[in-house]
Amino acid sequence: MQSSFYGAKALANFLLAATVVVALFLTVQFRDKLLVSEIEIEDTAEHSGNSTYGHDLISSENSYECINPYAQPGFIWMETRNTIDNTTWVPFYNGLLDEQFSQLWDTKGEPVDKIVDDTRYFPNNFPPNDFLKVTPTQWFQLLRQHKNVSDAVSTEKRPGRKTESTKILRNLEKQLYWLQNRSLLVVGDSVDETFVSHLCTSLATALDYEPTNSSNETSIVTCNIREWNLTITHWQLGCVGYNCSSSAVETPESIDQKWDRYFIPTSDSVIGQNGVSPDLVIFQLGLWAEQFFVNQYREYVHRKRMDYSRTLNFNELVLYTRLLRRTISKLRNLYGYQVPILYRTVALKNTALQDIAALNLDSAARYACRELDIEIMDFGWIVRGYYSFYSDDVNIGEGPLSALWANMVFWYLFRSQGGVEVRGDLVRMPDMDMTTVDVWNMCHDTFMKDLKIRS
Ligand SMILES: *[C@@H]1O[C@H](CO)[C@@H](O)[C@H](O)[C@H]1NC(C)=O
Ligand SMILES: *[C@@H]1O[C@H](CO)[C@@H](O)[C@H](O)[C@H]1NC(C)=O
Ligand SMILES: *[C@@H]1O[C@H](CO)[C@@H](O)[C@H](O)[C@H]1NC(C)=O
Ligand SMILES: *[C@@H]1O[C@H](CO)[C@@H](O)[C@H](O)[C@H]1NC(C)=O
Ligand SMILES: *[C@@H]1O[C@H](CO)[C@@H](O)[C@H](O)[C@H]1NC(C)=O
Ligand SMILES: *[C@@H]1O[C@H](CO)[C@@H](O)[C@H](O)[C@H]1NC(C)=O
Ligand SMILES: *[C@@H]1O[C@H](CO)[C@@H](O)[C@H](O)[C@H]1NC(C)=O
Ligand SMILES: *[C@@H]1O[C@H](CO)[C@@H](O)[C@H](O)[C@H]1NC(C)=O
Repeated sequence: MQSSFYGAKALANFLLAATVVVALFLTVQFRDKLLVSEIEIEDTAEHSGNSTYGHDLISSENSYECINPYAQPGFIWMETRNTIDNTTWVPFYNGLLDEQFSQLWDTKGEPVDKIVDDTRYFPNNFPPNDFLKVTPTQWFQLLRQHKNVSDAVSTEKRPGRKTESTKILRNLEKQLYWLQNRSLLVVGDSVDETFVSHLCTSLATALDYEPTNSSNETSIVTCNIREWNLTITHWQLGCVGYNCSSSAVETPESIDQKWDRYFIPTSDSVIGQNGVSPDLVIFQLGLWAEQFFVNQYREYVHRKRMDYSRTLNFNELVLYTRLLRRTISKLRNLYGYQVPILYRTVALKNTALQDIAALNLDSAARYACRELDIEIMDFGWIVRGYYSFYSDDVNIGEGPLSALWANMVFWYLFRSQGGVEVRGDLVRMPDMDMTTVDVWNMCHDTFMKDLKIRS
């Protein structure tokens, strides 16, 4: 069992959440209200009825520290480069500067071991325990553990008997119950599709792949993790925004046409706990735009090779941000403003060439998201440079990084359902009564202010 760190922490987390809610906690006050953007005011009428959300959840005595571990400086710790379990983002918070070097030097000041010797510090001794215990919860690993244990229990000879396994199972259920009936919508390209596919298949869940375009330019992938009735849907935007057959930039009308044809018809079926919409939307676009611009430029200068070292011009950035904005407004129109939407930052390409265009787009996206009040899930920033984990030029293979993606996604989903995690402690578990948006909004302003504008 994963007793030393994951198991113990998980149990502690639960106990903490269950028993100390009142004693909670912390000094930093949350900021009251969601910053209401212009566009929201415009649209308020449409969404003003009592949505499934609404009543005050957090009494003013309760306040939580708004801290996003994935937005802190830190590093990826992985047990080995091939495992998907035991991978985590280790935020430094404070303590890196004060860390004792006693592990590294003996009393005479001689190095105990080679500092670069991974075998000494991996898997369990590094990073030090006080760092590991503040890492974000390994939701993906807990899910996999639950799957493993429940499979084991179901094949036990005398079902119903209280065994060690059933006890473990109950504990896992106490942490994971909030995933029930949830629905996550991921909008993007093949990078996201690959992640969704890894997540689902590693939980032994089949994917339903539906091309919405005969040439596979756009598609819809769905999987339902039956143990939790947790549904993950992926929309592959592909050439929406750019007409790949004619190398032309699309007009807003043709973008709308594609949405109407490919995604809107099934959008009603993406329904989660709140009964009307997905519980969280994560979207991303960038690589198709980059490819489009870079290819256009290649044709324009009559060259054979793509040149990713070229800086995009202003018009290209304007076009890209327009598309981003249109995508956001499509999603908001579809599901309403109360559904949390995140932008996932683009991971650079695995290429010996430079990737300036992607950096330009990334910067434009950060700016646009700040202006449009969209939080970012900065996965692209966290994994920059980890090219050896890619399975090709753009897609990241199954392994530590795909597990990290899943853990991050669940961190946000947990928050979107009213959960609060502070420095690795689950200080508030989601309610099941759909009063979650207040909790999202509670930290939204803080996280928007922390948003990194530079990549
Ligand atoms: C994860 O790490 C724990 C200890 O930190 C270890 O006991 C466990 O075997 C590891 N799990 C896997 C799947 O490697
Ligand atoms: C909205 O909620 C309030 C208070 O819970 C209730 O009195 C009112 O009837 C609701 N309105 C609608 C349109 O459901
Ligand atoms: C689940 O079981 C598989 C197959 O036995 C194993 O490889 C994996 O490490 C287990 N994962 C967890 C989180 O227990
Ligand atoms: C699964 O969740 C969805 C969304 O909450 C719900 O509509 C559906 O009835 C659930 N299905 C089962 C079998 O619980
Ligand atoms: C999930 O949905 C099903 C069907 O609507 C419902 O019976 C069940 O109570 C729901 N579970 C939770 C935890 O909301
Ligand atoms: C797929 O996209 C191509 C190019 O935009 C278009 O010609 C074709 O009609 C689309 N197919 C479907 C089934 O929508
Ligand atoms: C579309 O994708 C599916 C699944 O990946 C594949 O089986 C099929 O051959 C593809 N079709 C085309 C026209 O590329
Ligand atoms: C894309 O370009 C092709 C070729 O010019 C054209 O036939 C098609 O209608 C265009 N698609 C859209 C959605 O504008």
